[in-house]
Amino acid sequence: MNPPPDGTRKQPDSQRPVPALRAGDPVPGLSSWLLERKLGGGGFGAVWLARHAIDHERKPVAFKFCTDPDARHRLVTHERNVVARVMQHAGKHPNIVPLLEYNLDGDVPWLMYEFVEGGTLAALAEEWQALPLAKRLGRAVKVLHQIAGALAAMHRLNPPIVHRDLKPANVLMAGAVPRITDFGIGSVALPQGSAPELTAGAAKLPTDMLRSGTKLYSSPEQRFGAPPSPRDDVFSLGVIAWQFVSGDASGQPGTDALAELRDLKVPTELASLIVRSTAFNPERRPKDGGEWEATLGALIARYSSQPETTDTGSPSKPYVASTADTERTEGHAPPRSNRPKGETG
Ligand SMILES: Nc1ncnc2c1ncn2[C@@H]1O[C@H](COP(=O)(O)OP(=O)(O)OP(=O)(O)O)[C@@H](O)[C@H]1O
Ligand SMILES: [Mg+2]
Repeated sequence: MNPPPDGTRKQPDSQRPVPALRAGDPVPGLSSWLLERKLGGGGFGAVWLARHAIDHERKPVAFKFCTDPDARHRLVTHERNVVARVMQHAGKHPNIVPLLEYNLDGDVPWLMYEFVEGGTLAALAEEWQALPLAKRLGRAVKVLHQIAGALAAMHRLNPPIVHRDLKPANVLMAGAVPRITDFGIGSVALPQGSAPELTAGAAKLPTDMLRSGTKLYSSPEQRFGAPPSPRDDVFSLGVIAWQFVSGDASGQPGTDALAELRDLKVPTELASLIVRSTAFNPERRPKDGGEWEATLGALIARYSSQPETTDTGSPSKPYVASTADTERTEGHAPPRSNRPKGETG
């Protein structure tokens, strides 16, 4: 696009240059907060830790800056309403990171979240891989139950709020409590639809999806441009559960999944949920997070009344959830690689 001759016409959001973000600088459009350090970045832009400039008693916060031009365009044109609803509803749930404030109108739109210090569930799940199956299952079920509770609450809203980018990297650990972040903006960080690439013959995934490592968790219909549905999140939850149970952090359940879960002596109701949730046909999946919450809740109640096993890792032992189930472990083990991998991401 040629610049306007007199420089007066406003450029579209996606074309405007993004001011650089530097440690020590004020947050663009909000001088009361100072950038401290960059925490990382994804398909959406960059996340920074920031501190209040004057009130040093205030807790630090995490600013998510939308610097990616396409994501910026989607955020400010289509997703304003979603962001407002997320701020209104999601922050009230203990397993969702509250969105404290946002500004979608500046050159760098941002979302201000509570800062959660404990690292991501992806890192914690890596630690779990060193554990014998029964212990790994116990910890996974407790965390999955809380995540499912948060999803169920958002899915019950009318209209539902769908996460659309649920993955272990988007669950932050506040001690033993999982808190989902990026709620509702998955549709922003990821491009909508890839139909042109499909018609070209190969189901090529959009670059943003590849880059963010999200494709493992995205439902087939989401990849191909379907509108958001709670069943997208159910698919993601099924993949996450499969990874936790199988110990393979980059895998997806394949056609033998049910048999493999049976071999691992995974409780039938959990095995069935995983398989149904990752069905290609969305109609075959649970309709929202509610069934996951109820099933895992019942499983925890059932097993918590039993004494804890002295775990040897024998696959014949059933899963037992104990109060120690959410504790962190020492040491790491390489992921299991005895089953077909999904696409890596
Ligand atoms: N509220 C928060 N508190 C603490 N750390 C956070 C917070 N939000 C994000 N982070 C961290 O900032 C980094 C970047 O997050 P970001 O969401 O941009 O990347 P991502 O989750 O890998 O990708 P995606 O764009 O798909 O969500 C990650 O390490 C993430 O854990
Ligand atoms: Mg994220």
